[in-house]
Amino acid sequence: MEILKNHSLKSFNTFGIDAKAREFTIVEQIDPLIDLIGRTSKNDFFILGGGSNILLTNDIEKLVIQLNLKGISIIEKSEDFVLVEAMAGEVWHEFVQFTLKNNFGGLENLSLIPGNVGTSPMQNIGAYGIEIKDFFYSCKALNIETLKIETFYNADCKFGYRESVFKNELKGKYIILSVQFKLTKENHNLHIDYGAIKQELEKMQISNPTIQDVSKAVIRIRESKLPNPKEIGNSGSFFKNPVITKKEFNVLLEKNPNMPHYVVSENEIKIPAGWLIEQAGFKGERFGDAGVHKNQALVLVNYGNATGAEILAVAHQIQAKVDELYNIKIVPEVNII
Ligand code: EPU
Repeated sequence: MEILKNHSLKSFNTFGIDAKAREFTIVEQIDPLIDLIGRTSKNDFFILGGGSNILLTNDIEKLVIQLNLKGISIIEKSEDFVLVEAMAGEVWHEFVQFTLKNNFGGLENLSLIPGNVGTSPMQNIGAYGIEIKDFFYSCKALNIETLKIETFYNADCKFGYRESVFKNELKGKYIILSVQFKLTKENHNLHIDYGAIKQELEKMQISNPTIQDVSKAVIRIRESKLPNPKEIGNSGSFFKNPVITKKEFNVLLEKNPNMPHYVVSENEIKIPAGWLIEQAGFKGERFGDAGVHKNQALVLVNYGNATGAEILAVAHQIQAKVDELYNIKIVPEVNII
């Protein structure tokens, strides 16, 4: 296994930040990974997946291990369901396309989300009314301490909105190696109630959509709103949508009767951070090479040579302004490194 020194991570993070790794290697098999982890001190390595949910604000003074474990297999088929396993290094969207080609239903709303399969459970990726927790069956993860491979079932992962046990109490303790999804073989349960999907299907003149049609609609919506990381560096939504209390919401609604919102529970309301950021005047703004996307204010972008610190400075400005105007503290969804 080749270990490169002082290696640029620019092409390994979708923000396109030119930070360096003290050492860098790509791992393609589980056994060499276990061997490497066993030989490296716990605080001296950093696991990198697809690099789609990180903002690098500094060089990484560690051994960066890029997980490139590949493979997709069908584990079990019953009359109605199929259990499909994908290795951590599979590119998420390519995996979704594989499931759709085989006419396995469930992941179609999650088409075109950047990143790899291995990081999908970390933050319970979601879009258009679906989160992976809805189809996640289990994952295998390497315990960094014992070097044993353990299985986590759905309930073990404590999934929440962009949350899981791997981001919280087990942070840094496991490396996800593969994920199994339970998908439908027929009688697919389509989720097209999310406004934009219905409208897009109408535009496409499809009245009786298949899972493949839903995927196409999602791809069209995402391409129209979200910048392609290959063209403009970004990490998707930079912030999480904040959840506020009903009481706080009622105060805000008086001044902002058109404020979009979703009821989460009896006492909790979710406000789209994109709307707050747009109201705060940041949509489409540019500060050097760092900026806020013109079609979706929730997405921060790197126009070329922004540093992670410059992007973070824009994020801080946005947080302060939103707090000042709405008394709401928005927090990043992206991991700041
Ligand atoms: N909005 C604005 N201005 C903006 C952006 C949004 O006013 O610049 C308003 C829209 O008008 C709409 C509302 O905010 O009323 C919601 O917008 P949208 O449907 O685009 O979704 P979102 O809440 O901004 C979330 C996810 C996205 C996911 C979409 C679709 C989070 C943090 N983000 O965004 O996920 O694709 O819903 O389901 O929950 C990602 O995590 O990287 C990501 C792209």
